[in-house]
Amino acid sequence: MRRPVVAGNWKMHGSRSANHALLTDLERGLKAEWPIDVLVFPPYVYLADAARMLEGGQIGLGAQDVCAEGGGAFTGQVSAAMLKDVGCRYVIVGHSERRRLFHEDDALVSRKFAAALQVGMTPVLCVGETLQEHEAHQTEDVVARQLDAVMAMHGAASFADAIVAYEPVWAIGTGRTATPQQAQTVHAYLRSRIAAQDANIGRHLRILYGGSVKGVNAGELFAMPDVDGGLVGGASLSADEFQQICAAAALRAAVRH
Ligand code: 13P
Repeated sequence: MRRPVVAGNWKMHGSRSANHALLTDLERGLKAEWPIDVLVFPPYVYLADAARMLEGGQIGLGAQDVCAEGGGAFTGQVSAAMLKDVGCRYVIVGHSERRRLFHEDDALVSRKFAAALQVGMTPVLCVGETLQEHEAHQTEDVVARQLDAVMAMHGAASFADAIVAYEPVWAIGTGRTATPQQAQTVHAYLRSRIAAQDANIGRHLRILYGGSVKGVNAGELFAMPDVDGGLVGGASLSADEFQQICAAAALRAAVRH
């Protein structure tokens, strides 16, 4: 049984007061008995503050990015050890916005993945195709390339302590969601690629779907056998919406049990 994950990527949103209100509402709304992992990924500057607020609670904390280097003369960068030091246990690597807007390639993403593992954090590796690639039926080629880059560098065993997120770029922030069947097909494909190297790790790997997940569509997405939760952008900024998504994940866990 894979424990579902609902992860809120806040992107470049928030303020001290807004974060405080959001986390307070969220903590109040989550049910302790829900067998799911709930994670939030605030911007760097708010991480330490969020860690203090979340201490001893149910919500896990992660960062949206990490430097591949361990430390030194890298102005503006933040290392995995620093993130861990302020209370992060998770870090997103290879988000499509990082790949597209900040020119991160597969090799750099693989190094970031390893940097997180090295300090004992869980990397959340994002993969996904653009609209153009989607329309050219290249989805599987693209996600295989992104996944294989990490496997080639670090082996399938490195996914024992990782999470994968399938985020079709055409579904991010567009209101256009992949159909449950589309998501399922890609998730099953990703799982099979890892399982081909290590059946046990493939079976236990949690693969999240991201791209316009909302309270209204979370249930049908999470009902798919290989969709183990969501990486949520816009809807994670509303405590109400995010809780509805968490409730859908909890229901999935209950049904599977
Ligand atoms: P939206 O949920 O806003 O589409 O964003 C998805 C995403 O990029 C999460 O990382």
